[in-house]
Amino acid sequence: MAKTVVVVGTQWGDEGKGKITEYLSSKANYVIRYQGGNNAGHTIEFNNEQFKLKLIPSGIFQAEKVILGNGMVIDPKSLIEEMKYLNSKNIVTNSIRISNRAHVILPYHIKLDELLEELKIDQKIGTTKKGIGPAYIDKYSRTGIRMGDFIDPELFREKLAFQVNEKNELFKAHNKKLFDFNEIYVEYKNYAEILKQFVTDTSYEIDIALENGKKLLFEGAQGVMLDIDHGTYPYVTSSNPSAGAVTIGAGIGPTLIDEVVGVVKAYSTRVGEGALPTELDGEIGEYIRKVGREYGTVTGRARRVGWFDAVIVSHTRRVSGLTGLSINLLDVLTGIDKIKLCVAYKLDGEEIHYVPSTIKEFARCKPVYLEMEGWKEDITKVKKFEDLPINAINYVKKIAEITKVDVVMVSVGPDREQTIILKEIY
Ligand code: IMP
Ligand code: MG
Repeated sequence: MAKTVVVVGTQWGDEGKGKITEYLSSKANYVIRYQGGNNAGHTIEFNNEQFKLKLIPSGIFQAEKVILGNGMVIDPKSLIEEMKYLNSKNIVTNSIRISNRAHVILPYHIKLDELLEELKIDQKIGTTKKGIGPAYIDKYSRTGIRMGDFIDPELFREKLAFQVNEKNELFKAHNKKLFDFNEIYVEYKNYAEILKQFVTDTSYEIDIALENGKKLLFEGAQGVMLDIDHGTYPYVTSSNPSAGAVTIGAGIGPTLIDEVVGVVKAYSTRVGEGALPTELDGEIGEYIRKVGREYGTVTGRARRVGWFDAVIVSHTRRVSGLTGLSINLLDVLTGIDKIKLCVAYKLDGEEIHYVPSTIKEFARCKPVYLEMEGWKEDITKVKKFEDLPINAINYVKKIAEITKVDVVMVSVGPDREQTIILKEIY
């Protein structure tokens, strides 16, 4: 029977969605991305090998097909590089399908990403500088170049000419180097030629897949707290990682989604600017960063680290309709004496259980903690939930209780094998 599952990040991204998606893709037929672009970074490990993906869905290793949905913004150069990288590691990439309605990231978007950050005085976002925001700006200005236009040399020429002119006006005004239309056209026409064979109406393909009883997995990039609507605006990305965006970003109706698995770290991390109420500045933070290898996949930046925040994950449960939780990186907390869990915020003396909409209020939120006993035993080889140390079991159960979501998976290491299943998803 057909089944559709969405995997979303419940925090600020980097929860380990790639690992979980890759794991689940042994059972799913299609793995589909519905938003974002190469700002995402997924690290996947199996058979003692590590793979880093930015654009291509983590199902590429096992699924029948992987789809880059219409809600995405795609840098053709980066995509081709990623395909070559995988090919060099003997992974075939001809199962990729690219939506003809997805938007294309071009070199001026990347420069514009830098310029827009430069122009911000005290609210720099700390973007990945991949041109994601500017490509979405063009989408909503209705001047963007879509994959379908891109692979048609005449349409591409027309639209690109308009874009280069428009962007150069801006760059000129800020004394920046101007772009040469011909240079971009010649280089990118080549990329279009390479990608053409993969471009299609992916919503149509998804419809047929469902008719044929296929199992679909929708892979979110970033996390709900980086969602442009439901995240910590303006310190967010420019798309909707929330589960609801699957319907628009992949072209499937809301009535056809069966489950939403929220991926969560056993603690919190964030890259870039914006408040992180449970942030740890001292020794424990350093320890978690080191053990958890908390450095950005895309930018290499050290991630900020904090305790688990149940207010955040409850917010995600609500806006994304989570039906299950996958708790990742539990092993990273091994050896910490007392583990804290944020259960509420104090805002100007009042206890609250929601995320305030303004960053000013959010920055004033002080975490209310529940303290739990840690564990010392190595858990990286544990296969069954009941074989975990009792304090680890208690911690996991507490998270489920406070966030009101059942735990379906626990991850105790980066490898595909280091996954404890509490409930089968497919
Ligand atoms: P942008 O997505 O490059 O526009 O960056 C906006 C914000 O989202 C910045 O704080 C980035 O660090 C953050 N961000 C974007 N993609 C990811 C991701 O995949 N993981 C974590 N943070 C991300
Ligand atoms: Mg990442």
